[in-house]
Amino acid sequence: MSTSYRYAEIAAALETRMRDGLYRPGERLPGVRRLAREFGVSIGTVLEALHRLEAQGRVRARARSGYYVQAPTQAAQPAISTPPPAPAPVRGQDMVLRLLQAANDPAFVQLGAAVPDPRLLPRKALARAVATAYRRHPDTAIDCAFPPGLEALRRQVARHLSAHGTPLHPDALLITSGCLEAVTLALRALTRPGDVVAVESPTYYGLLQALDALGLQALEIPTDPAQGISLEALGFALEQWSVAACIVTTNFSNPLGAVLSSARKRALTELLAAHGVALIEDDIYGDLAFSGVRPDTAKRYDRGGGVIYCGSFSKTLSPGMRVGWVAPGVEFERIEFLKYATNLAAPSVLQLALAELLASGAYLRHLREVSAGFALAVGRMRHAVERHFPPGTRVTRPSGGFLLWLQLPAGIDSMALHARAHREGISIAPGPMFSASGKYRDCLRLNAAVPWTPAVERALRRLGALAHELAEG
Ligand SMILES: Cc1ncc(COP(=O)(O)O)c(C=O)c1O
Repeated sequence: MSTSYRYAEIAAALETRMRDGLYRPGERLPGVRRLAREFGVSIGTVLEALHRLEAQGRVRARARSGYYVQAPTQAAQPAISTPPPAPAPVRGQDMVLRLLQAANDPAFVQLGAAVPDPRLLPRKALARAVATAYRRHPDTAIDCAFPPGLEALRRQVARHLSAHGTPLHPDALLITSGCLEAVTLALRALTRPGDVVAVESPTYYGLLQALDALGLQALEIPTDPAQGISLEALGFALEQWSVAACIVTTNFSNPLGAVLSSARKRALTELLAAHGVALIEDDIYGDLAFSGVRPDTAKRYDRGGGVIYCGSFSKTLSPGMRVGWVAPGVEFERIEFLKYATNLAAPSVLQLALAELLASGAYLRHLREVSAGFALAVGRMRHAVERHFPPGTRVTRPSGGFLLWLQLPAGIDSMALHARAHREGISIAPGPMFSASGKYRDCLRLNAAVPWTPAVERALRRLGALAHELAEG
């Protein structure tokens, strides 16, 4: 196990003890030497863990005395959302491409797009796996792997999900070019232009663009950062409107970071099945639990095949590989045909390389490391927001993924903040991108999957200062 992973594990263990009251605010933590003995690591590794906790504001160093517990900071989470109660066509999504173009500009501090910085991803292992795929399977790597895609990868994905609470047969899966393609294929199978699709509010703008491109209407459902989509509101909406499909990101959603509990996943699946409405489950962040324990899925509770389960490696290994999957349930044949009719196949060599990474155990090892790193990064960014942004700023407390959603005090416009930050080379994602109806002008999303550099620290301080200026008018 690498040292980089150990320090994160030790920081997480100390954080849990503080939360459980074993070490109370104001008390001194055990000495560095004692902790090093207890965890069986070097003093350097313990110091690294303590520095991380210090950066998150959880401990404070006192000269020649040691590390002292700080009370956890208190910024509240945003309240449950209150979107418009009727379906509407998607509008105002034209700013998104500009944001993504900024994300490709290396001169920018990238806090906007929801992609992990490549420095946090296993670049060497990916390069080796691709080279090995060409060497070991030259014919398969070069040939076209028509739908459902290579069995080697479908088997590994099925094994991974089955081992973590969602039993799936390899033949129930189709390989796609990323998760967004999986969702789009599902929408194409289930809807016609003009149909209504229920979505979380706020939700990932890519889903809104998919609705826009297919001429569909969005019905935004109130969603809570802690509990996820309101099943009560969804039930009410299903009674009132004719809904063709419902899209939910069940684990560590984008942008709220919400997780539906197992009971709520089951209830969601049953509610939709009772109304004859398909669930498109987007589980792209499910592998990134800070606790290391992967949550289950709504697919697990699917009895009639009405859940279309979508995922990809874009948040865990490589957004640029464009490899994902879909378990389409009763829509298998239709979605298989649509995948073929759209772009024939997903790249074979990448399917082989990913199958190898999963089979060797390298994927699971990487997940442990990267999730622990994201947990620290999110904590540190949250702390910076609490320090630098105007009092009254609310911020989510996700338990996985790498995104933070902020609600600014009344009167601060995130579009104005976005424009000013953009001029200074800082990219953020303003709230209206996450709504079909232009809501959330007081909100923004930050991406914490970036190496913690002085430039990032400066950018957060600067964003806070700009928010203060906007508050003062
Ligand atoms: C919830 C959600 N679904 C889908 C996607 C897109 O996934 P992919 O890049 O695999 O198409 C994203 C990327 O930001 C996302 O956040």
